[in-house]
Amino acid sequence: MKHFSIAIDGPAGAGKSTIAKLLANKLKIIYVDTGAMYRAVALYCINNEINYNDKESIKNILDDIDIKIVYKENNQRVLLNGKDVSNEIRTNEVSRGASAVATIKEVRIKMVELQRNIAKGTSIVMDGRDIGTYVLPNADIKIFLTASVEERANRRYKELFQKGVNCSLEEIKNEIKQRDKNDSSREFAPLKKAKDAIEIDTTGMTVEEVIEKIVKLIPKDFYN
Ligand code: DC
Repeated sequence: MKHFSIAIDGPAGAGKSTIAKLLANKLKIIYVDTGAMYRAVALYCINNEINYNDKESIKNILDDIDIKIVYKENNQRVLLNGKDVSNEIRTNEVSRGASAVATIKEVRIKMVELQRNIAKGTSIVMDGRDIGTYVLPNADIKIFLTASVEERANRRYKELFQKGVNCSLEEIKNEIKQRDKNDSSREFAPLKKAKDAIEIDTTGMTVEEVIEKIVKLIPKDFYN
């Protein structure tokens, strides 16, 4: 079987990770969540009292940050300097920090090298913001997932509510808008739909419907 790659990009909350994970399981290939890497950099800054907006300081400590992606029972785990931080990186503060550190070119170059190395020699589904445009420009299938701000905020609100986190829908909506702005307006490798990507607006669609739509785009000989 030939190796193949599927790039899934889109704004925060469009359903990328849910869809990418299920798709990878269905196709029995690896799923790489690249956002987790930027989150690990942000967590390092927070833990070491480095302001995540302080670009110069972050550039200077980049060599102290070692990020590894490993798989445990089919689930991606992120190791930051040897410690599994996969759960710690899911807070709102880390989300904000990740969006900030992701604007630094040197941070991106380091993460992209890691991402391309993982993608070498294996079939993968990789999700992020710049996978189809920059990390894997030759990906076999490129998907750009979107959804309205309202829908994305509602999904996030429900997710947090189920976890018992108390928050306001309005606050979440504003955070999502701010992250969209940060991610798409940065200079280096911003969030952008690749020319050859297929856009799917998931507003009002179920996860199963989205998966079905993507599977139909994949040539059968890729995974049979
Ligand atoms: O997908 P996520 O929410 O976990 O990503 C966290 C942040 O990392 C997001 O605000 C933008 C950044 N990011 C990026 O710039 N490029 C990627 N390939 C993945 C994430």
